[in-house]
Amino acid sequence: MEIVIPKEGLPEPPPIPQPNIFPIEWRVETPRLAEIYERSKVQAWNPSDIAWSDLDPAAFSREQRLALMYWFACLANFDASGPPVFARALVHAFESHEQDPVRKCFFSITRDEVNHEEVCQRMVQRFWPGGPLDWTPVSSLELVAHNNIGWLYHNGARYWTGFNRSFDKYPLAVVFTSFMMGEMASSTLFRGMASEAGHPIFKDVFARIGRDESRHLQICMTILESTWPGLQDSYKEMITRQLRAGFVFLSMILWEPPDQFWDLPGTFLPNHRVLVGIAREAGLGVLTFEQQAENWRQALARVRAIVERWGIEFPAIPELDIDGVDVGDISSDDIIPVF
Ligand SMILES: [Fe+2]
Ligand SMILES: [Fe+2]
Repeated sequence: MEIVIPKEGLPEPPPIPQPNIFPIEWRVETPRLAEIYERSKVQAWNPSDIAWSDLDPAAFSREQRLALMYWFACLANFDASGPPVFARALVHAFESHEQDPVRKCFFSITRDEVNHEEVCQRMVQRFWPGGPLDWTPVSSLELVAHNNIGWLYHNGARYWTGFNRSFDKYPLAVVFTSFMMGEMASSTLFRGMASEAGHPIFKDVFARIGRDESRHLQICMTILESTWPGLQDSYKEMITRQLRAGFVFLSMILWEPPDQFWDLPGTFLPNHRVLVGIAREAGLGVLTFEQQAENWRQALARVRAIVERWGIEFPAIPELDIDGVDVGDISSDDIIPVF
């Protein structure tokens, strides 16, 4: 058998129209990202291995079970967005030929977020069969919990279309900054709850999720350190606006929903406070309103210190007495849901 090379040379394959996942290649420009990806494999955990039998629903009152289910149903509004959001980022990273470790890191975040979603699923189903929404309330407290979850998911649905367009609408530096903000928020939330939680199973899952979220934050920071230099001023303005959008979106779970974006009836917040209060008394580890505000303020101060190093202005957050640039109204189109 002989190889064939015509005198005029081999025919060239047609150029591949982009964006496309082909041609295949595995470039490594940032070895640190490859290291973080390796760490994600070593730190992997399995939600099935949690000692679920130690979390006995019968140890809680019916109202506490409802409130615990309610909180995890709220968390699911965020953590169940994780898998599809990062799966889309993963596909985008392949199509735009991001270096291999970026793609692998997005894969690992997707993998982790599926675990976090599974924790929400198991908690909801453990405390309230049929939860979050497929059950019939038989008391006033159950009625308001069911109604609030319905309203929350109505809002989740509103940001999905906007997010689907965000990779066409924004340069990667802007999208990654939103990711960074989400990971800063989630690592802060779970660290706080892991230390406050009364029940060992809550402590255990929050500590595991918190460690994942800190790794996600490191991934975002490492990507941004190479994406931010030479950033155009118009992108910087977009990022300032996106930081405010991140605050508006994430406050729902880190603190309380602000006036912008959230389409909620007047009954939502008072009933939410009652339910979260019951979950707190049951040992879930939800911080108090003031602790949450302080925690959020500190997380935002860290984000501010990071972005200002790159000449990106921070938005005003009057809700937490943080001064900055007024970026106007935030709508569902501005929300990049990350956690
Ligand atoms: Fe998560
Ligand atoms: Fe995350």
